[in-house]
Order: sequence, then structure tokens, then C-alpha cells
Amino acid sequence: MRWEKCVIFDLDGTLTQSEEGIWNCVRYTAEKMGYPVPDAATLRKFIGPPLTYSFREFMGMEGEEVDRAVRTYRERYQVTGLFENRVFPGIRRLLRMLKRQGCWIGIATGKPQEPSERIVEYFGLKKYIDAVAGPLGFHSEEKEDLIRRALPEEYGEAWMVGDRKFDIEGGRKVGISTLGVGFGYGSEEELRQAGCTAYAATVQDAIDILCPGQENPQGAFLSIEGLDGSGKSTQIRLITDAMERYGFEVVHSREPGGCKVSEKIREVLLDKDNVGMTDITEALLYAAARAQHVREVIRPAVNAGKVLLCDRFVDSSVAYQGGGRQLGVERVLAINAPAVDGTLPMATIYLDIDHETSLKRRSAASELDRMEMEADSFHARTEAAYRELIARDPQRFIVVDATRTPEEIGKAVAEQVLARLMEAEE
Ligand code: TYD
Repeated sequence: MRWEKCVIFDLDGTLTQSEEGIWNCVRYTAEKMGYPVPDAATLRKFIGPPLTYSFREFMGMEGEEVDRAVRTYRERYQVTGLFENRVFPGIRRLLRMLKRQGCWIGIATGKPQEPSERIVEYFGLKKYIDAVAGPLGFHSEEKEDLIRRALPEEYGEAWMVGDRKFDIEGGRKVGISTLGVGFGYGSEEELRQAGCTAYAATVQDAIDILCPGQENPQGAFLSIEGLDGSGKSTQIRLITDAMERYGFEVVHSREPGGCKVSEKIREVLLDKDNVGMTDITEALLYAAARAQHVREVIRPAVNAGKVLLCDRFVDSSVAYQGGGRQLGVERVLAINAPAVDGTLPMATIYLDIDHETSLKRRSAASELDRMEMEADSFHARTEAAYRELIARDPQRFIVVDATRTPEEIGKAVAEQVLARLMEAEE
């Protein structure tokens, strides 16, 4: 079969950023062998050259010791270091767009084949990659040979994409177009000197060059909910880090708020002086803020292929105004229908604490807003309404016990969120 378009990528510095794992393994080796731990500048030099060279040149090791260092390094690398890796944000979108064009996608890397395949698998990228070519056994291989192995037998237009001159030189030797990328470990000067056909400073530039005029794939809309004091802010940080490590482009927003008009409505809603606000006014204001936010922020982000993570959404209205204020679930949903207009989160993370725990945590806070000042019975009804919502729509909710440590919660949530995001990519 002839492939009309092929794109071959280098791995380290092009699809992924691997320094964290490399540095941690060098530190581990130094500590285990009784060497001083290299400083940051020295650690940086370990990215790129073969390990034997680096241990000799940068840590002054000789003979037997070098082999021991390589063995010690691998001992940690194969289990942990390999996965202390990040996919550059936007790379998933690029791969998705190329696949949608019916493109052949290969990887030609100086990292041995087996760990390279494990990295691709770990980050859920296997579905995009048609061939991985890395050195087999203990021998290194010329980049041009790796590129040939990553290509199909017959092809039309073909690109080699990489961050170092070796990638560009290899691609040129094979006789295909080359794209130098400036977000990895090489400089623009290095890539231009090597004679790249085109240069991309950012992942977006690479998308513009490789997928000209193509529309972005749909991103995803996620929301996070919970009673006041459930620890949403900490979890947003942890989950975002996990999503970004996998190459998702995350955008944050919050309700009420998220854009100019809605932030102004937020001020009115949370102002402690607005004691006379009627329940229906309150519900309409939350819905009004939401109507603007959906159109100005949420939809554009999702249409641009981003993952929009929203701190609260319509479930908060159902719980707080429907339950807490006793306006009723159906009435609040009806008020919100034109605001939401069919835009609903693909998944909603619910940080589960009961209203008593919420009260304790709120009491410890320095200043409370108009909603947080409400009586405990209000929060008890809010909690009950949340539980009803979850029972109605168990598929959408990711419910986690939020009384555990932040790290435990973050890990549990991230696993489920990532699984859903990757499933939705298909
Ligand atoms: P938020 O900024 O999330 O406060 P916190 O960080 O303390 O959780 O939300 C502000 C308050 O607004 C919060 O008490 C919940 C309430 N709220 C509603 O009552 N209805 C809604 O639709 C939304 C979005 C929030």
C-alpha cells in the first residue's frame, strides 16, 4: 500500500520532554555510588549524549565504574525514570489531526526501541503511531536508518520532524522534507544550519505547517464540583499537571465568572452586603453569568481542541439554588436551559465531603462570602441535592472521597479523567 503522506517524529525533545527522568536517574546513580550529586548545569549536559560518555566526561568515572553507573542508572530508569516524562502540550492535537488526514505516523528515535514503545503505550499514543524505530539490542543506529525503518515501503509526501541537527541531517539523507522544532533541546540556529525545510518555534507552528487549513478536533469540557471547603483548588492544580503531562492543553475557568461580564455578576452574587437578594434573583444571576461564560469561554476553548476545566458549572446551581435554597431541581434546570443550551461537561469530578466536614473547613477560613455564611442546614440540603444529581447521572460523575490526602485524591481523579479523555479521542 502506498501512503500519500507520512510524518516521522523524533521522540525526546519533539514528542516528549524527558529530562526529569534522566536527571532523577543520574542523581540516584551518584548517590548509590557515593559520588557528589551533579549540579543543575551538569545534569543538563546528560540530555543527548550516550550515558557512558556522560559518566566519563561529566562525573570523572573510569573503566569498570562507568559500566556500574550505567547498570545503576538503568535499574531506576526501567522502572520509574522512563515514565518521568511529559508529552509536549498540543502534541496530542497534532497527532489527532494528522491521523484524521489519513497520514502514516512513525517514530525514529535514538532511545532503544523497547523503552520507546513503552513510553508511547504509557501515554496512550499507540493508536496514532504506525511504527516505532529505535536501536535494537546494544548497538546505536544511524538516524537515517532509523527513519527508513519508521517509514512505510511506498510513500508520497514525507516529513522528518525533530529538535536536533541529527534529525534534520538524517531526514535529508533519506531524501524527505524536514521540519525543525524549537521547543525541544536544539536551537533555531542549529536546525537552520543543518538545512531544515521548515522551522516551527511552537507546537502550534508545527500544526500550521503539517496540517494547513485543517480545523481543530473537538477538545473536552470537564467540571469540578463539591461543597465549599472540598479542596477544589488543590485538585485543579494536581489534575491539570497530570493532564498536561499527557500532552493535553488545559484551560481553566470558574463559575460564577470566567469572563468580564460574568465576573461582574459574581461580585454581586458573593457580596455580603446583598442580604436582601431573593432566591429567584440569585438563581437567575447565576444562570445569566453562565450564559455569557458558555458562549465566550467554554465553547471557543472546546472548539479549539483544548480541555476546559471549569471550577463549578450548572450542577452547582441545581445543588445550591435547587437544594440549598429549595427552589427545586426542575425549576433550576428550566432556568438554566437557555444558558447552558446543550453544552454539558463530558465528565464531572465530585469531591465528596459531607456538610459537617464542609462546615469545619469553612470555619477555619478567614473570611466567608455570602454563600459560605449560610447556615449548616442550607449546606446539608445542598449536599443532598448533589447526591441526587449523582444518582441521576452516575456515568458522568467521577466521585472521590475528598477526606483523603490531596495526593491520594489527585491520583485517583487523574487516572479516571485521563482514561475518559483518551477514550473520547478515538
Ligand atoms: P466558588 O468560587 O467555587 O467558591 P468556593 O471556592 O468557596 O467553593 O463558588 C462561589 C459560591 O457560589 C459557592 O459557595 C457556590 C456558589 N454557587 C451557587 O450557589 N450556584 C452556582 O451556580 C455556582 C456556580 C456557585
